[in-house]
Amino acid sequence: ASTLGAAAAQSGRYFGTAISSGRLGDSAYTTIASREFTMVTAENEMKIDATEPNRGQFSFTSGDRVYNWAVQNGKRVRGHTLAWHSQQPGWMQSLSGSALRQAMIDHINGVMGHYKGKIYAWDVVNEAYADSGGGRRDSNLQRTGNDWIEVAFRTARAADPAAKLCYNDYNIDNWTWAKTQGVYNMVRDFKARGVPIDCVGLQSHFNGNSPYNSNYRTTIQSFAALGVDVQITELDIQGGSATTYANVVGDCLAVPRCAGISVWGVRDSDSWLGAGAAPLLFDGNGNKKPAYTAVLNVLNGG
Ligand code: G3I
Repeated sequence: ASTLGAAAAQSGRYFGTAISSGRLGDSAYTTIASREFTMVTAENEMKIDATEPNRGQFSFTSGDRVYNWAVQNGKRVRGHTLAWHSQQPGWMQSLSGSALRQAMIDHINGVMGHYKGKIYAWDVVNEAYADSGGGRRDSNLQRTGNDWIEVAFRTARAADPAAKLCYNDYNIDNWTWAKTQGVYNMVRDFKARGVPIDCVGLQSHFNGNSPYNSNYRTTIQSFAALGVDVQITELDIQGGSATTYANVVGDCLAVPRCAGISVWGVRDSDSWLGAGAAPLLFDGNGNKKPAYTAVLNVLNGG
């Protein structure tokens, strides 16, 4: 196959990208995005601050722009993200305790209700684990009680039973890291107790401090063995090594429950890391990079 999406589809997988609503007027951007990808994640437009700028007042203008572009171009959509310590609107940052807990529940119901039946998978909870030590990150949500994550997942299941429900985080790619083990233990506990969770999102932002490691395949296999899908949700690799991209894709293809891969932007110039990081599959002029060819080749079985 000659595109990332078609090549991934040969094994029943998707190949997606983050889409930014502000770029949808750029035809060079939309041409590549429409041609190559089969899954879309809104880079910012479905986050808490974007969708509920004032308490109880939902705004889906930007989220719908990304959603509609995706569907009109034949793509599915991942929802990102419902409960997160970051990008909370001011009103939510100032809440605590039971009021914040209720606001989280209301937010999940409001956003998932709007997109009910339309989303392939939601990142229900994002980045809830601390960078070191294997425990939870301190946040206003965590201070509402340790059960906030499972409450979020139970709320989400009831709000849209058709969506897969994911826990999504960064630096849970390396199997030997405490953070990975912390999230693994949470998912194992959720599966054991019947807390509804369907997928783990490995963001997979690789750089010098958190490089790709060959135990990545073990991480994917280990989560999958708990009975959840694994989705590579925000892939980018600083420097854009073709070999590393090929390894990541090969590791996903080696595990049947690795459902798909999304990169975190279309061209290097669209990356949150800045064009200089050259972390994506297309350069700023929209040319395919060596990493693109490497990924396509692996997806095609080569
Ligand atoms: O839209 C405003 C603009 O009006 C304003 O002038 C400008 C001034 O700073 O800010 C613009 O908003 C920025 C937004 O990106 C859109 O460009 C925000 O400041 C900026 O914080 C925001 O950054 C996003 C970041 O999440 C915020 O946490 C990145 O685009 C986005 O790529 C990044 O994505 C995250 C995932 O959601 C979760 N995992 C990590 C990943 C990378 O950090």
